[in-house]
Amino acid sequence: MFIAKEIQTAAYLFASILFILSLSGLSSQESAKRGVLYGIVGMIVAIFATVMGKGVEGHVFIIAAIAVASVIGILVARKVEMTAMPQLVAILHSFVGLAAVLVGIGSYLDPATQALTGAEHTIHLVEVFVGIFIGAITFTGSIVAWGKLDGKVPSKPWSFAGLQMMNLILVIASTVLGVMFCMAEGTSGLLYLGIMTAIASFVGVVLVMAIGGGDMPVVVSMLNSYSGWAAAAAGFMLSNDLLIVTGALVGSSGAILSMHMCHAMNRSFFSVIFASASLGPKGEKKAIEGEVTALNHEEVANLLKEAKSVVIVPGYGMAVAKAQYPIHELVQTLRSAGKNVRFAIHPVAGRLPGHMNVLLAEANVPYDIVLEMDEINDDMPDTDVVMVIGANDVVNPSAQDDPASSIYGMPVIEAWKAEKVIIMKRSMSAGYSGEDNPLFYKPNSEMLYGDAKASVEKILSFLK
Ligand code: TAP
Repeated sequence: MFIAKEIQTAAYLFASILFILSLSGLSSQESAKRGVLYGIVGMIVAIFATVMGKGVEGHVFIIAAIAVASVIGILVARKVEMTAMPQLVAILHSFVGLAAVLVGIGSYLDPATQALTGAEHTIHLVEVFVGIFIGAITFTGSIVAWGKLDGKVPSKPWSFAGLQMMNLILVIASTVLGVMFCMAEGTSGLLYLGIMTAIASFVGVVLVMAIGGGDMPVVVSMLNSYSGWAAAAAGFMLSNDLLIVTGALVGSSGAILSMHMCHAMNRSFFSVIFASASLGPKGEKKAIEGEVTALNHEEVANLLKEAKSVVIVPGYGMAVAKAQYPIHELVQTLRSAGKNVRFAIHPVAGRLPGHMNVLLAEANVPYDIVLEMDEINDDMPDTDVVMVIGANDVVNPSAQDDPASSIYGMPVIEAWKAEKVIIMKRSMSAGYSGEDNPLFYKPNSEMLYGDAKASVEKILSFLK
């Protein structure tokens, strides 16, 4: 049974509208759930309208594949920890890239497209070539990003003289191959396509390997954008309007998000995409001066009892420890004692955009005391106690004063300007960027070693 072309077009239009509503819903925490729901309904409509479209055969196989994939998707999504979400997103992007490559090869070999002539044929060949190029970069780049985020590939950036030149030469070589591919007769262009796929796969690896840990958030959202453009290219090859619209939505929203992140991290958008962001820092690293001192939980509780204003800076370690629930209790206790308690959120704290905001909202922390870095940095000199809970890179002063640091130039929360800084983490180990943190050695800093959740609970027991 097939549905008429008109019904399919109407369904595609409806699904496109749902996807747009979904994206706009995701722009705030209050409407995010509704946004996700729109996305799910849109996707069901899209899949149904495509599978039931004229000319689609082998429904049994398609439905079986969808069923198996859905079960795998549900199991993986249920099992994955919030802290491992970026890895999951990265690996899913790699599937989109691989799909674009396979669709491209399939579309090139399809006898129906081989029968095209003139400008129509050339346009189709360009679509195939560009789609496979973007798809292959997305595929391998996303796998490397997954490896870096998961700690399987070192986060230290690859850098060697001539890296940019090599990338440029590879892109020029791909363009030449593209011209030869378009001029090749029959399916003889498959050789050029194969060489270009190998080159693009290598470029994907190099692009992401050359980016340091601190810049990874931008890379993940850039790969999101690439996967959208790869899907849009596949849409052109398959003459599927919905895939073009959806791909363009993902591609452009990912690019806008990347630009916002670059702005927040004081990075140039183009230097990140062309893998030069991490090549900036030069020279000898500044020697860290000072001594590390530590307090126990009771001493920290006493400091909090005396403080009038407290700022909490949460980071990735808070997410790992799932410390947001006792933190909320701590905040309630301190506020009921008349203290001004607020949160300072860095735009890339944690491992995914909005990570800290989502966790704090989950623990019912009121929105009005959760402030962005820019809103609270000026208040640091008037703050009695800053509690840095499982955060590291986002409070690293080297970002401001050590040009040799890989995070130099990234805006940070100026915790060191407060009267007292308590840093709660398990050891002296470095943050995600791999950079040491001079904040730990400052005279007004004190370490409180241990798991963030256990530490907050212990402090609470002394406060009550
Ligand atoms: P990080 O710099 O990664 O530091 C987190 C700290 O938490 C670590 O130094 C670790 O020290 C501590 N920790 C881990 N488990 C803990 C636990 N159970 N209890 C207490 N402490 C624990 O985190 P950040 O300051 O949030 O900065 C985020 C970094 O991730 C940035 O470099 C950012 O660029 C990068 N990144 C962000 C994103 C997005 S979009 N947000 C995506 C990818 C990468 P110990 O081991 O000593 O405990």
